[in-house]
Amino acid sequence: MSRCLVTGSSDGIGAEIATVLEGLGHEVVRHARDEAKAALLHDAGAGEVVVGDFASLASTRAMAARLTSPFDVVVHNAGWLPPEGPRPVTQDGLERTFQVNALAAYLLTALLPLPSRLVYVSSDSIARGRIDLDDLQHEAAWTADSAYADSKLAMTALAFAVARRHPAVRSNAVHPGWIRTKMSGDVAPLDVAAGADTPVWLSTSDTTATGQFFHERRVVRLNDQAYDLALQDALVAACAALTGAHL
Ligand SMILES: NC(=O)c1ccc[n+]([C@@H]2O[C@H](COP(=O)([O-])OP(=O)(O)OC[C@H]3O[C@@H](n4cnc5c(N)ncnc54)[C@H](OP(=O)(O)O)[C@@H]3O)[C@@H](O)[C@H]2O)c1
Repeated sequence: MSRCLVTGSSDGIGAEIATVLEGLGHEVVRHARDEAKAALLHDAGAGEVVVGDFASLASTRAMAARLTSPFDVVVHNAGWLPPEGPRPVTQDGLERTFQVNALAAYLLTALLPLPSRLVYVSSDSIARGRIDLDDLQHEAAWTADSAYADSKLAMTALAFAVARRHPAVRSNAVHPGWIRTKMSGDVAPLDVAAGADTPVWLSTSDTTATGQFFHERRVVRLNDQAYDLALQDALVAACAALTGAHL
C-alpha cells in the first residue's frame, strides 16, 4: 500500500485519480483549494483532506508544512485554465496561471520530502507552448491560451529537471486526454475514468520510466524545450528565486 497525495482532487480528473487509487487499496490524502471544498469532500466520506490555495505562496507553503508524514506518490494534478480577459495577477504579484500550474507544483516538490513517484498532470497544449525565461509571467503580452500552454510546458520541464536531479525518483508528466470536466466542459469526448488512467498507471505500475511525457500509457514527445537541460536548470533557478525554496 502506498501513501498518495493528489492535488486538485476536489473535482474532475483529480477526484477520479484519488478514488481509483483508494479503490486499489492505497492511502490517499485529497487536496482542496479552500475549507468549503474540503467540507464537501468530508461530507462525501473522504478521509484526510489538506487545504491550500495554489494562487497564494503563503497558502501553498502552509499546506506543505501541514503534510508532515512523507508520501510514496505525489500527483500534481491541480490546474487552472484562465478565462480570456485581463492578465490575472495574484496577491504575490505573480501571473496567476504560471503560479497555480507551475510554481505551486515546484514549491510543493521542493518543500515536501521526496516521494518515490512524482506524476505531473500536464497537457498536450505544451506542443504550442514556449518557455521565455525573460518573460515567464507574460508581462509583454498575455492570452489565456498561451499562458496555459506555457505554464504546462514549464511544469513539464520541472518534472524532467526533478528526474535528472533525483534518479531514484520516478518523475514523469502526463497528458490526461481531452476530458469532460468543469475545465473542458461537455464537448470533450472522454470521461474522467479515461483521464485518470495514465496518472494512476504512473502512480502504481512497475514502470521504471522517469523524465518522460506520457499519453495513454505511451511516451510521447511534444515540445523540445522541455528536454533542454540548460533551460530546465535556468527555470529551476527562476522558480527558486521566486519562492526562496530549492529542489
Ligand atoms: N480536462 C481536460 O481536458 C484536460 C486536458 C489536459 C490537461 N488537463 C489537466 O488536468 C488537470 C485536472 O483538470 P480537470 O480537467 O480535472 O479540471 P477541474 O475539474 O477544473 O479540476 C481542477 C482542480 O484543480 C483545482 N485548482 C484550481 N485552481 C486551484 C488553486 N488556485 N489552488 C488549488 N487548487 C486549484 C480545482 O479546485 P476547485 O474545484 O476549487 O477549482 C480542481 O480540484 C489540470 O491540471 C488540467 O490542466 C485537463
